[in-house]
Amino acid sequence: MISNDAERNLTTDQITPTHPGDLRVLIVDDEASVRKVMAAVLAQLGLPCETAAGGEEALHILETSQIDAVISDLQMPGMSGLELLAKVRRLHPQLVFLMVTGVDDLRVGVQAMQQGADDYIVKPLQVDGNILSASLARARRVKHLEQEVENYRHHLEEIVAKQTQQLREALCQIELSYDHTLEALGAAIDLRDSPTAGHSRRVFLYSVEIARTMGGLETQMRNIGMGAWLHDIGKLAISDGILLKPGALTDEECRVMQQHAQIGYDLVKGIPFLAEAAEIIYAHHERWDGSGYPRGLKTEEIPVGARIFAVADTFDAMTSDRPYRRALPFKASQEVIEGGAGKQYDTQTAEAFLSIPDKTWETIRRETASSHAYGMATARDIHALSGMIKPMR
Ligand SMILES: [Fe+2]
Repeated sequence: MISNDAERNLTTDQITPTHPGDLRVLIVDDEASVRKVMAAVLAQLGLPCETAAGGEEALHILETSQIDAVISDLQMPGMSGLELLAKVRRLHPQLVFLMVTGVDDLRVGVQAMQQGADDYIVKPLQVDGNILSASLARARRVKHLEQEVENYRHHLEEIVAKQTQQLREALCQIELSYDHTLEALGAAIDLRDSPTAGHSRRVFLYSVEIARTMGGLETQMRNIGMGAWLHDIGKLAISDGILLKPGALTDEECRVMQQHAQIGYDLVKGIPFLAEAAEIIYAHHERWDGSGYPRGLKTEEIPVGARIFAVADTFDAMTSDRPYRRALPFKASQEVIEGGAGKQYDTQTAEAFLSIPDKTWETIRRETASSHAYGMATARDIHALSGMIKPMR
């Protein structure tokens, strides 16, 4: 509120040298005479302005017009200056906001600053060109600095996001390189032991399927898959005379052949990203009841990946053609695994295996049969297991 005497005291002829620039100002005051004087002061400063008689009208103008600064009276009927300030700060945080207070409202003026006003002007004394201009210029500089800080922060975020993306892509490429290496290794195993062509790929997919069905193994999925894929890598060190011998092996040949689990483990254990898979390679011929080799581990001493592999391996061995017999039906192998649960096989693993429908096995066999020569597992399949255990990149 402002009296007519006070209106006469308002000076409009003092134009400050500190010009606030091209600000478009909205004057909010319930008194038409004040709006008029303010507009005249701003006009002398070369600042275009609009006027509103209250908070609601001011908010409407802010929605529809390009405004840079609001100069609002504190005490108005209806929406007070402080209420308008709160709404403007929420809806248009970038705007300069000056609160106009009476000499008796200084405390509220300070409160307005605390609530987000950029400055306050005491009327009628400070409603002149110099003070208004300086106040607007100061507020604008602060806003400008705030915007620069915000732009800088945004720019930094963009840089960080871009570099994070580049890092992820690089890591992805490294992982793919690893997986291509694994693919070649697995293919080499199958090539060496040609009667079991496609075996590595099938037990890889079977093991992953059983692990999925068991549940709770998401973080181990990649290791389980790689362990199954490379389980016989130690056979690369077994001589052709033993590995490819058509007839039964002698006891000594059997002993040599059994060394492939230890050899495979020794070969792979030093590679950090294969360290867990190495444990599966080491234990892939162990049996639940302790009758396996090379260490005679029993029950849960055997890594879960190796327990899963044992079931997958039996299933594949029985359902694949051999030089000396045709492939057996799924049912025959399922009966063997059911009968061996709690002896050769982990019961929980056997149960998970038996719950998987034949359709799933048929799909895997069809897909592996139509895949590359020797049924190579693709790097893509191994890589896909990473997606199961890592957040989206
Ligand atoms: Fe083996």
